[in-house]
Amino acid sequence: MPRIFSGIQPTGNLHLGNYLGAIRNWVALQADYECIFCIVDLHALTLPQEPEELRSATREVTAAYIASGIDPERCIIFNQSMVPAHTQLAWLFGCLTPLGWLNRMTQFKDKAGKDRDNAGLGLYSYPVLMAADILLYRATHVPVGEDQKQHVELARDIAGAFNRRYNTDFFPLPEPQIFGAATRVMSLRDGTKKMSKSDESDYSRINMTDDADTIALKIRRAKTDPQPLPHSVKEAEMRPEAANLLGIYAALTDETMETVVAHFAGKNFSDFKAALAERASATLGRIGGEMNRMMADPGYIDGVLRHGAERAQAIAEPHLKLVFDMTGLLRL
Ligand code: TYM
Repeated sequence: MPRIFSGIQPTGNLHLGNYLGAIRNWVALQADYECIFCIVDLHALTLPQEPEELRSATREVTAAYIASGIDPERCIIFNQSMVPAHTQLAWLFGCLTPLGWLNRMTQFKDKAGKDRDNAGLGLYSYPVLMAADILLYRATHVPVGEDQKQHVELARDIAGAFNRRYNTDFFPLPEPQIFGAATRVMSLRDGTKKMSKSDESDYSRINMTDDADTIALKIRRAKTDPQPLPHSVKEAEMRPEAANLLGIYAALTDETMETVVAHFAGKNFSDFKAALAERASATLGRIGGEMNRMMADPGYIDGVLRHGAERAQAIAEPHLKLVFDMTGLLRL
């Protein structure tokens, strides 16, 4: 069975973009793949985190996976820092990765901003650790949102660099899997900006734990243009806020963008927004409620993570040992 690896950073405010761009697709994939879903706590540390909040966010992401329908028996769910082989492999990969490859990463440029000299080394080498996450398990497929495509392509390049350097085909070249009508969910305040955990305005995103009233309010306040809804997908593409809301609706109802555009063509935004809010709270209300119930019982969540880490470790350790042997590290 081909193997999937994917992950989410426990940095708080899990949102509809994380759900539609990633988690929801994972739920569908678990039947056909051996799946490993990680909570990448070491990646979260590339920006400052409060220790207690990091621990709590790690449990919250775990709860989101399970509440969304990922089966912790069928899939491996664990947090990255529990398996030390991730950072060990990342070091070896760092020694093979030219700086020029990292200089091309757009996420680093966005997150570091203008003051590059003060950005951390971890933020810069972030994609190398991500390559180690994926390749440690020799995963072949990586389901992610559009924004992570460049990082998965870098993981392919690093796998190729290792294979060439040691004259082996040990690492598969992992494929990004990007699907659904919402591969890039945009901010509700600005249709040209990605919906993000770190946006200061909570009105820019729908959080997975928002209740129905909050969801309805945020959608009512979502930015739109003054015209009625577009008559064609082509027209929608010229109107970023309309395209975003229509895309979210299509993803939530599992319809194509064409169907949704045809259904609402020429209608007022207020009617469409009411329908969208209903759909969003039908899906997220159930998941958010289940997450809150699970968060009240951290013992269960911790048990899932402990068991997941043991299973992850059992795959990772033999792979790391083979890699150490290939690279000539003396292990006595
Ligand atoms: P992170 O935590 O930023 O996001 C987690 C997942 O959610 C997707 N996503 C979105 N999809 C659509 N629209 C949006 N607005 C949106 N925002 C986020 C992301 O594409 C991602 O799939 N580097 C990764 C975590 C990671 C990882 C890995 C992923 C670490 N190691 C190995 C895959 C494999 C990240 O920061 O995701």
